[in-house]
Amino acid sequence: MAILVCGGAGYIGSHTVRQLVEAGEEVIIADNLSTGHLYAINPAAKFYECDIRDKVALKKIFAENKIEAVFHFAAYIEAGESVLLPLKYFSNNVCGMEILLEAMTESGVDKIIFSSSAAVYGEPERIPIDELDKTVPTNPYGESKLIMEKMIRWVSAAQGVRYVSLRYFNASGAIEDGTLGEDHHPETHLIPLILQVPLGKRDHITIFGDDYSTPDGTCIRDYIHVVDLAAAHLCALKYLREGGESNFFNLGTGHGFSVKEIIEAAEKVTAQKIKTMLGERRPGDPAKLIASGEKARKILNWTPRFDDIEKIIATAWNWHCIHNK
Ligand code: UFG
Repeated sequence: MAILVCGGAGYIGSHTVRQLVEAGEEVIIADNLSTGHLYAINPAAKFYECDIRDKVALKKIFAENKIEAVFHFAAYIEAGESVLLPLKYFSNNVCGMEILLEAMTESGVDKIIFSSSAAVYGEPERIPIDELDKTVPTNPYGESKLIMEKMIRWVSAAQGVRYVSLRYFNASGAIEDGTLGEDHHPETHLIPLILQVPLGKRDHITIFGDDYSTPDGTCIRDYIHVVDLAAAHLCALKYLREGGESNFFNLGTGHGFSVKEIIEAAEKVTAQKIKTMLGERRPGDPAKLIASGEKARKILNWTPRFDDIEKIIATAWNWHCIHNK
């Protein structure tokens, strides 16, 4: 039986496919290549170029292959963009989920592992954020992920699909051999944008606001290595295979770093001074997001390997240096 990875040509999807293949799993990738990359498609996987809103194409994949479980990474992910273009997010993320769940249930596939996000919490009431804390998203992206989680939950209750929702904090870094990395066009994420400065591709990094209620005034995030995120998916698959009940988990390190701290760490890793400019706050950005990762550690037996921000940035730097030659 195979694992269908929707969005397997993207950043977190491609790293997860690598680990699935290394674990001996049969992998099928469905990706429309709108943000993913052909080069990131694992040669050991069977590839279908398809949009998850295309039900006919999805049903064909389910008909042609024996699929045990679906890993769902195929979504738009930019919180800032979602504030300006909310319907883009509801179309791809929410409608995509509807079609995927329809195709799955009509084809008798009963397990799904879903890429959710810390963005479902919005501005948290306390830190670290626990899975039972309030979910009040501050941008359409987070709202779309919360709706997607709820869709899965109701379908699960009605039709017996079991799921694991993984609420990622800030995915970062790259596989250590430098073959896969964070490759968004246009790039909007902090660490790759910072690294573009020492690469000579950008003059400076703009700090989006320094008047937040944090010690240095800049936003704090919990940066979790992409290889650790990928590993959590394999833990979740094992959990569902062993009969685990539907569940949702935060995936983070439990440590937060401010924008300024990330810039300082990147200066150490690259041994270069990184020029900064102060800009306006970006709409929809919560001041501080740090995960309590206890539940995933206890129930999924998941332990992140990367607990040092400089090591995380070093893996990203390695990939950027190779990829930008
Ligand atoms: N930032 C800057 N300058 C930039 C880019 C970002 O100061 O040029 C700041 C942002 O304002 C934010 C922090 O850096 O405070 C991190 O921003 P990212 O865009 O890298 O990441 P986000 O926290 O906005 O969002 C990311 C993913 C989401 C996910 C979220 C979970 O894009 O999919 O992490 O915490 F939901």
